[in-house]
Amino acid sequence: MIQLNNYELLQKGSYISGQWCSVSDAFFDVIDPATGATIGTLPSATKALVQSAVDSAYSSLSSWRSKPVVEREHLLRAWYDLIVANKEDLARIITYEQGKPLAESRAEIDYGLAYIQWFSEQAKRLNGILLPTKNLAQRAEVIYEPVGVVAAITPWNFPFAMLARKAAPALACGCTVIAKPAESTPLTAIAISELARQAAIPAGVFNLVVSSEPQMVGEVFTGDERVKKISFTGSTDVGRWLYQNSAHSIKRLSLELGGNAPFIVFDDANLGLAVEGAMFAKFRNTGQTCIAANRFLVHEGIHDAFCQKLVERITSLKMGKGYDPSVDLGPMHSRHEREKVQSLVENALGGGALQISIKTPAEKNLGEGFFYPPKLIQNVSPEMAIFQREIFGPVVAVTKFSTEKQAVDLANKTPAGLAAYFYSENATRCARVIPQLEFGMIGVNDTRISNEMAPFGGVKASGVGREGSESGIMEYVEAKYLCHGLTL
Ligand code: SIN
Repeated sequence: MIQLNNYELLQKGSYISGQWCSVSDAFFDVIDPATGATIGTLPSATKALVQSAVDSAYSSLSSWRSKPVVEREHLLRAWYDLIVANKEDLARIITYEQGKPLAESRAEIDYGLAYIQWFSEQAKRLNGILLPTKNLAQRAEVIYEPVGVVAAITPWNFPFAMLARKAAPALACGCTVIAKPAESTPLTAIAISELARQAAIPAGVFNLVVSSEPQMVGEVFTGDERVKKISFTGSTDVGRWLYQNSAHSIKRLSLELGGNAPFIVFDDANLGLAVEGAMFAKFRNTGQTCIAANRFLVHEGIHDAFCQKLVERITSLKMGKGYDPSVDLGPMHSRHEREKVQSLVENALGGGALQISIKTPAEKNLGEGFFYPPKLIQNVSPEMAIFQREIFGPVVAVTKFSTEKQAVDLANKTPAGLAAYFYSENATRCARVIPQLEFGMIGVNDTRISNEMAPFGGVKASGVGREGSESGIMEYVEAKYLCHGLTL
């Protein structure tokens, strides 16, 4: 049992039409990745319950979208305030079900809160446009209306922030929402839904379905004409499936899918800065972020110096259970994730890559947790799976290059196009490389790229749409063009 101050946060089941529903004949367990122990057992939403969530969101739409925008803003602000008041409990819930260290869980709450604040205010700036006309007897304008019922499908790596980044813009501009969290991290979403209830967000406006049958839930969402938009963060395979299955009802989609970020270190880089940037981009959430640095492309002239400095820094990371405040690196999220990383490493070593030994301090008695010590691997070639796939774990995979062109070609040698990073102190080189990189987000001498004011999203197989920034709210509205005939 997770120790909390406010046990009301640990409701059981799905939240529909302002009610908690725990009726089901199937149940699923939530596991603490640090121990492998069960920390909760939840009723899995049935198909009928998921359909009733759509009914609920649809029947609440008309009154919610007709509310003055400031009323919606005040309700979102009340939700924000309750999340702040329960921040410590929420951070503990994230750490227990997701695995990340408490300091990172707190940072995730702040990150998600910033989206709620930003979008509650941004809805008031959803100005229409007065258009020029070709004819004086016409007045033309554009107004923005909410798309309607939104299904928000969120991943396990950021159980709060990704929910906030989708639900806040949708609710702020007048859409109603059905959230579906990852089956391994439903407790944070349950707590956030309970706070939405306490904030008096009207019944049916925000709904939650928790289920161990993601495909069934996806079928209900994609198959129902009343769901006008799906916003999904997760794997490219699932994103493709949602895209295909939404075709018949021509839904709007925002897809934030997998990445395979290059991290290029040119020979004119500030190595100290590059190492610090690498530590954040690689080890945040034990490497389990879509924008994690995946392929380290390092110029041959500074390769050894960079690797040595990075290994020294990695040596200071303490691995252990996230609720121990001295820990920097938590467990992998699941046994399955750990096995995937291990098999990429084994495949690379079998293909001629070289593992540099790193001695990191680890908590004693790591027991049955899904821990995976950090690794640095050199001589990685583009043919290896570890270069081609998202590692999603604490492994630095290094490939040497000798020319700028080679670095750019290697960086673009992936179907993914989410984030890329590069380090160079040469302004001309920076200006030359930026337009050549086929990615939606580029960190130039920096890796802390995510915040509510920035458009987060990718190109190519990394998805469509942007979250955050002014663009983020446009994903949840339709432009309506009005042409008025005037009698002069
Ligand atoms: C993700 O990994 O999908 C999100 C990372 C972020 O928002 O910084």
